[in-house]
Amino acid sequence: MQHKLSSGIIVIFGASGDLTARKLLPAIFSLYLQNSLTEKNLILGVARSKLSDDDFRAKMKESLLIEYPENGSKIDEFLSQVFYQAIDIYKDKGYAILNDRIDAIKKAYDLQSNLLFYLSTPPSLYYEIPSHLAKLGLNEQSDGYKRLIIEKPFGVDETSACKLNKHLLQYFDESQLFRIDHYLGKETVQNLLVFRFANAIFEPLWNASHIENVQIYANEAIGLESRAGYYDQNGAIRDMIQNHLLQLLGIVAMEAPAKMDAYSIRNETLKVFQSIRRFKTAKDIKENVVVAQYEAGCIQGEIKGSYKDEEGVAANSTTETYAAIRFFIDNWRWHDVPFYVRTGKRLKQRATEVVINFKATPHPFFSQIQKITKFKNQLVIRIQPDEGIKLSFAVKEPGAGFKTHEVDMGFYYSDFAQKTMPAAYERLILDALQGDNTLFARNDAVEACWNIIDPIVQYLSKHGKEMIHTYPSGSNGPKEADNMLSERGHQWRNPTSQFKNN
Ligand code: NDP
Ligand code: BG6
Repeated sequence: MQHKLSSGIIVIFGASGDLTARKLLPAIFSLYLQNSLTEKNLILGVARSKLSDDDFRAKMKESLLIEYPENGSKIDEFLSQVFYQAIDIYKDKGYAILNDRIDAIKKAYDLQSNLLFYLSTPPSLYYEIPSHLAKLGLNEQSDGYKRLIIEKPFGVDETSACKLNKHLLQYFDESQLFRIDHYLGKETVQNLLVFRFANAIFEPLWNASHIENVQIYANEAIGLESRAGYYDQNGAIRDMIQNHLLQLLGIVAMEAPAKMDAYSIRNETLKVFQSIRRFKTAKDIKENVVVAQYEAGCIQGEIKGSYKDEEGVAANSTTETYAAIRFFIDNWRWHDVPFYVRTGKRLKQRATEVVINFKATPHPFFSQIQKITKFKNQLVIRIQPDEGIKLSFAVKEPGAGFKTHEVDMGFYYSDFAQKTMPAAYERLILDALQGDNTLFARNDAVEACWNIIDPIVQYLSKHGKEMIHTYPSGSNGPKEADNMLSERGHQWRNPTSQFKNN
């Protein structure tokens, strides 16, 4: 059962920005609709733009109505708990004004001194804001909790992530820090933990003796969405693999934790990150990494231009919009099992999946399926959209002989008709309000993930031109990524929109 939250304020820095309007306020509103928030959980938006409370409420209403067109009056009720404060984000005076406003709201609504700060600003401010808060004692917990949620990107490499961790840990304890990775807030990602550790039947098979390869991918159909400024400096590996996909890999590959709590789970995923084989030479990278950029093509019936045609992208950019990497985990459980991780923009179909490809039986009795079609059991965990889990196996058709074919046994979230899938940000904001950081990335894990990725991005920064391939928009990616798998007799699963039927 969920506990009633204690009273306090969620202070969102960067409240005039895109993330607040599109994701954060809708998530908080959804919590309000489910009565997870009380009338004593207030929201204070902060940014430099000069807006009044009413201006801010009107802007937020516009955005909430997109997702909740039927809930006009509830939105108004909710927005009466929402305030806005313009400050100069770089000056002490700005924070003194903010502190006064927090005090005034606390007094007017008789709130406890609990403060959840959400940094939804450009990353350069992840230094500025926490140190200003600390100067005013807004990191001290003697009178109520003080927590800090930090948006990605958390650094751009291991050195900068360590530096940022060091900076934040001067003012806040690790238990006060919530480094958000919205993939960990996805219902299906959490279900992976239950699937793996509440079912005894999979555990004996979950290792190198029975699994041939694992595929973890987040294919996107969208392009840059006016984020060229950020994206062209970072690329797919930093944007998606260093964080979301490695976190997923951590959950797929981890040992059973001592307890289902933040400390134990995060210890186990950290061990996975520490055991991932590092790329030491150019040869390692060339053999195990494929990067590419999208070209013009047709996607879901629409003609789209190439990456280099996007506004804000450098004409000679070698930034990857697609990456496929073959990782190995050097431990007993996963010895020599390839973990293929891929992500790309403007691909044929949006789908995030974890695919476990089992080994074939040691001796093929039923030549029709096992020799000709090389049948192997496959378990697919569809993270999004059309969420579900499906296991394929071989059966015999009724009648003479051994005519066999492949069928599926599946669980589909759509069958939970009464339940809607909670948005990742909802769950994560609620967890932060409750002080549970299980689903947030710990400092050592973030640093370890950068340590895995750094040699690749450093190599690409010098040799991007030689390494980068292309793929047409609307395709399944470059052929070179298919070749990387076929070298070992493996093949990507290429998902379609209807999980139930594919
Ligand atoms: P926006 O550029 O839309 O908003 C940035 C916000 O920060 C604005 O409210 C801006 O308001 C404020 N701000 C304060 N100081 C500065 C400054 N010096 N320069 C620019 N803006 C400033 O960014 P997003 O909302 O898209 O992203 C916020 C954070 O969330 C970023 O770290 C981003 O990487 C991360 N993120 C965003 C995602 C998204 O889908 N949008 C997805 C995942 C992460 P004002 O100018 O009024 O001060
Ligand atoms: C963000 C990336 O973290 O995740 C985006 O910056 C990407 O480039 C997005 O589109 C994908 O999230 P989701 O939840 O739509 O899979």
